[in-house]
Amino acid sequence: MERTADHPGSLDRPTPVDPVALDPVALDPVVLDPTGRDIHAESAAIAARGPATLVELPGRVLAWSVTRQDDLRALLGDPRVSKDPRQHWPAYTSGAISEDWPLHLWVSVQNMFTAYGGDHRRLRSLVAKAFTARRVAAMRPWIERITERLLDELDAAEQPVDLRERFAYPIPIEVICQLFGVADGAREDLREVVDGVFDTTITAEAAQANAVRLYGIMHELVAAKRENPGDDLTSGLIAVREDDGSRLEEAELVDTLILVISAGYETTVNLLDQAITALLTHPEQLAAVRAGTVGWADVIEETLRWQAPVANLPLRYAVEDVEVGGVVIRKGEAILAAYAAAGRDRSVHGESADEFDATRADKTHLAFGHGVHYCLGSPLARLEAEVALPALFARFPGMELAVAPHELRPSQSFISNGHESLPVRLK
Ligand code: HEM
Repeated sequence: MERTADHPGSLDRPTPVDPVALDPVALDPVVLDPTGRDIHAESAAIAARGPATLVELPGRVLAWSVTRQDDLRALLGDPRVSKDPRQHWPAYTSGAISEDWPLHLWVSVQNMFTAYGGDHRRLRSLVAKAFTARRVAAMRPWIERITERLLDELDAAEQPVDLRERFAYPIPIEVICQLFGVADGAREDLREVVDGVFDTTITAEAAQANAVRLYGIMHELVAAKRENPGDDLTSGLIAVREDDGSRLEEAELVDTLILVISAGYETTVNLLDQAITALLTHPEQLAAVRAGTVGWADVIEETLRWQAPVANLPLRYAVEDVEVGGVVIRKGEAILAAYAAAGRDRSVHGESADEFDATRADKTHLAFGHGVHYCLGSPLARLEAEVALPALFARFPGMELAVAPHELRPSQSFISNGHESLPVRLK
């Protein structure tokens, strides 16, 4: 499509969209709310502007938000789109994006998340074997035991309880920390720093300090496992590196651990948190689940569609000019995958797209991404939810929210889509 004056793609801008060289006021981007106060209203406003809309991230960094399911799916599967800023984001290589950018860690890590082509295949293949559907299915009894133990603790807890803190967090943390051999003593620290990574209100200084802490924890983990290897995935990755350094550089080893350990829980915490919230605020659907007319898999998929745990994902870059629904994203410009918006795309889900309805036939979503970067942990995340949710609702049949739904505060983030806390009366 031609660039026209009334179209965002027509804006007279140098190539690429450079956070320093350009005047955001002239480009009129939607400024993303770092506090994530109302992710869905914001997503709807962005989607209403067109298939690809310029948004401003903290630090005045510009990116194209792609909100429609078909467009986003096509883009995520397109080899003309990369996640490697070192090769494909001139704003990064020119130094315009500096270390004090609050989202720096999201783009600077060197692992599969930010790799392209052959490098991506190499890095992903080193970890992929551990997360196949078969390997993950074998973890069920172990996840059941973790869940039962937590439910026993909740049974004895004073009411109301914060289920995000006492249930949604501990399950994924326990699972991922045991898989990677993270010592009990390091988990609380890890939890804090991973929270910091997802907090988009964080200052530049706090983000930098947080990154230093995160690297400290990971270097300690690697050093401990080098000295005392165990039957865990960290020791496995170290063995790969020691076997043949060309398959995994030291920086990639540490950054892969950062990715898998952090991706492995904040997201799953949100899925559990949002599914519990959805059922407690839709009693008729909870009743249908209890009656067996709606399955738990329906609840989980509908939650992923309705409340994508990763609302927006930074960042991708156009390797060449790419057209999205008539808007041309030029080579070197940044792209934000708007997963929350895509789940509520009206052209797919109709007028009821904004409603939670576990009975809807088509629950298509992109909450785990699509294409080569499709979530490696999706079987594990689904399994954790399949075990945790039915067990929780069976143990506490009278469970109810301890505050009005509108009093639940969203997480301070436009990336992570959960709540600050989830106060519930269990009995
Ligand atoms: C409900 C829970 C989860 C959600 C919603 C989720 C979401 C996502 C999404 C959207 C992506 C694609 C990112 C992109 O746009 O490129 C992704 C990638 C990834 N996820 Fe998950 N994730 C979840 C759980 C997990 C778990 C439990 C693990 C644990 C191992 C994990 C590990 C990864 C990894 C390693 C990648 C990077 C894959 C690559 O770049 O090739 N995720 N996840």
